[in-house]
Amino acid sequence: MAQTFAEQLKTSLNEALTRTTFASDLPAGFSAEIEQVQNRQFGDYQSNAAMILAKHLKRNPREVAAEISEVFEGGDLCGRPEIAGPGFVNFRLSTKALTERFGELLDDSERLGVDKTASPRTIVLDFSAPNVAKPMHVGHIRSTILGDGLGRIAKFLGHRVISDNHIGDWGTQFGMILWGWKNLLDQAALESDPIPELLRVYREVNARTKEDESLLEICKAELVALQGGDAENLAIWERCVALSKTGLQKIYDLLDVSFDHWYGESYYNDRLAPLVDNLISTGIAEVSEGAVCVFFRDNEKLADKPAIIRKSDGGFLYATTDLATIDFRIEEFKADAIWYVVGTPQQLHFEQIFAIVKRRGQNADLRHIAFGSILGKDRKMLKTRSGDTVQLADVLAESVVRARAIIEEKNPELPEEEKREIAEIIGIGSVKYAELSQFRMTDYIFDWDTMLSLKGNTAPYLINAYVRTRAIFRKLGSPFEAGGTITLTADAENELILKLAQFAEIVPTVLEDFRPNALASYLYEVATTYHKFWEACPVLREEGDVRYTRLALCELTGRVLRCGLGLLGIRTTEKM
Ligand code: ARG
Repeated sequence: MAQTFAEQLKTSLNEALTRTTFASDLPAGFSAEIEQVQNRQFGDYQSNAAMILAKHLKRNPREVAAEISEVFEGGDLCGRPEIAGPGFVNFRLSTKALTERFGELLDDSERLGVDKTASPRTIVLDFSAPNVAKPMHVGHIRSTILGDGLGRIAKFLGHRVISDNHIGDWGTQFGMILWGWKNLLDQAALESDPIPELLRVYREVNARTKEDESLLEICKAELVALQGGDAENLAIWERCVALSKTGLQKIYDLLDVSFDHWYGESYYNDRLAPLVDNLISTGIAEVSEGAVCVFFRDNEKLADKPAIIRKSDGGFLYATTDLATIDFRIEEFKADAIWYVVGTPQQLHFEQIFAIVKRRGQNADLRHIAFGSILGKDRKMLKTRSGDTVQLADVLAESVVRARAIIEEKNPELPEEEKREIAEIIGIGSVKYAELSQFRMTDYIFDWDTMLSLKGNTAPYLINAYVRTRAIFRKLGSPFEAGGTITLTADAENELILKLAQFAEIVPTVLEDFRPNALASYLYEVATTYHKFWEACPVLREEGDVRYTRLALCELTGRVLRCGLGLLGIRTTEKM
């Protein structure tokens, strides 16, 4: 695919700079940047290069801009750039350029102009990672949705993505679960729906230990027996993990999320002792008050925060497992990068781990992709009415029920089977979109009415926009047929095709700072721009090239919405 408009303009602009009178005075390595313009009154793209250069050259920015405009050669792409405001250089694409790109995009039905990266990497994506038999908290909801979206986008851009669900299957919670399993378990409940039953048992034991300290000791003994290889406890543990995985898998199926691997924490058990020995012998870790620690004495931020990797009682920690996991991922998967989609409370943990990895001379690119909280309408941590942690499965179920009500109202005639399918698409899509349309660091308020609204930046609005692009072909009685002549005749068409062409500019930027919300905002703009086009430009009433062009715009809008939502893990439906 040809370069994007932004790339082409950038190349031409930088070439133009070499023809200015100040070409020899440019700062070393200077490269002018191009930006999309939101308000098209002033052009389609702009550059602030003249303002930056004017400062450097001690000249008037508008004069510098004028000189750049003078020597700029836009060819077929655009005419003479205009100078605006304090010294912006503004570019307006020619109808010819838009028409050509339109044709290219129509032919590129899979990628829609998005090139694969020239430098593909092997990325291990560590996300979701709930703890077995413990409540999956809201943090896991965010991690699951965000991680899945980022993985889809990275794959689409040509990276090799290996997803690994690093479940907490070896934590101290098993002390309580083992005792609860032996004393409180309701077998029938376990068989019909394991996760809630395991959770009930865990909560019950947890509550009892608060009142009865001796029980805590008994639970600890169960844990020690498990870690020591006690056959009965190991068998219970295995069942517990297996049941949990089955329960989790159901949720992932509903979410359309999948993992290449589920190497849980327990997978690394045998690797922990040798790893700690290695860290001691290489001088990275040292024994301190009976425990083994890594100190970061020359790191201002971590100077008083050593990482403990073996407790004085010989037990290993979360950090030890993560270090062993990194070794494994580098050796086994040849990981160039590891992305951890884990909430901000674990920031210190990852800073410590990453510092140790650096000291060991391992050069994988490690990223902690942190995120904020989900709040209730009261702006406090999201809780159920009874004060418990909100469960992902419950959220999804309720969302589907609420989506169903919307469909009943909007389209009561649809057959039952379709209603059910659409409710699921919209219900699940809404929960995902509420997450992905926010910048990940923002704490966002979980509000059913907002996220299921047919208006505003929501999944139902975007899916509905997609449905509208499809409805026209149903009315026409046949699918889109390529091969006609594109003739752009209205500004609303130019605006829409420009927007659609920018898909290729937006998608790669998502990975720069892990912001799927940039893609979400873009899709919302596509939908609103389409709406404007729809109001301004009749389609089926027209004939010939104009009609063909407008049908093609509907088709292409549909493809971009569908592909873009797909990259966020959101499905579309033909009707709603
Ligand atoms: N199980 C952990 C938790 O629930 C998250 C694990 C994240 N991944 C990792 N490699 N540490 O908090």
